[in-house]
Amino acid sequence: MDARPFRSVLYIPGSKARALEKARTLATDAIIFDLEDAVAAEEKANARRLLAETLAATDYGPRAKLVRINGLDTQWGRADLDTLAAARPEAVLLPKANSAADVAALAGLLDARAETAETRIWTMMETPQGVLNAAEIAAAPRMAGFVMGTNDLAKDMGCRFRADRLPLITALQTCLMAARAHGLVAVDGVYNAFKDTDGLRTECEQGRDLGFDGKSLIHPAQLDVANDVFAPAPDELDLARRQIAAWEEAQSRGEGVAVVDGRIVENLHIETARRALARAEAIARLEGES
Ligand code: COA
Ligand code: MG
Repeated sequence: MDARPFRSVLYIPGSKARALEKARTLATDAIIFDLEDAVAAEEKANARRLLAETLAATDYGPRAKLVRINGLDTQWGRADLDTLAAARPEAVLLPKANSAADVAALAGLLDARAETAETRIWTMMETPQGVLNAAEIAAAPRMAGFVMGTNDLAKDMGCRFRADRLPLITALQTCLMAARAHGLVAVDGVYNAFKDTDGLRTECEQGRDLGFDGKSLIHPAQLDVANDVFAPAPDELDLARRQIAAWEEAQSRGEGVAVVDGRIVENLHIETARRALARAEAIARLEGES
């Protein structure tokens, strides 16, 4: 798994100059510069140009930068790549990925230009076919992350919105499992009611408990909640330190297990504990650089 934090992943419409400017100072771990569904058809060309210029001229600091292009089966996808190649995006986010062949087609186009020879690929997981093919998509060369597209998925599945997301659970878990099997970052879908912070918190907690690294967001007002929920909590870090200390002490006595707070601690728990501490360090480093 990528050591870099992806607690908060904010969409910014490539057509909105003010939001592009504002993002330089927002506390977001990653940005998705969007040319797809947040940009109207008649705005596509302008957004593409504005985004290419902005990326070339703006320092977004340590934030991870992804560009969501239009699908390669649309009239805009290839032109998005043509214009953006010069800005050397670190990752391209492919919408509505259905198969490993879709990833390979994008990889071929990235390979064809020196500027994008190293660019990683992320995919939106938002079609029934894509979810059913999650494992082969995750295993495709250059893949680095999944973003759940829960709105599109719900539309295609014909399921209804429920606060507990029961209709989406199978898809969320299938994609999470595929991401983990192949070492990808996994980011949960958006919460549409961007003024409802309580609802957002509940959904972030669910995504975190399922195993996601963070949440995709649509508005800056959602950043604090996601950054908080997806960071290891102080009591989690305290437990991790105590588990490591107790386990090392047990090791020095030649024993393989320890007991902390009435619960058994084995090697596997120590891996989880070390990962929580490493995540907290990575977050502190990122916040220090921002
Ligand atoms: N990224 C960065 N800045 C954003 C932002 C975003 N996604 N959304 C809003 N802002 C900025 C606005 O520019 C505004 O800045 P200002 O105070 O300097 O003028 C400030 O945050 C407050 O915005 P607000 O007036 O509350 O929002 P709005 O009503 O203008 O827009 C949305 C609401 C939902 C339309 C807008 O947030 C948005 O476009 N979000 C992204 C949608 C998207 O990308 N969807 C595709 C994936 S699902
Ligand atoms: Mg979508």
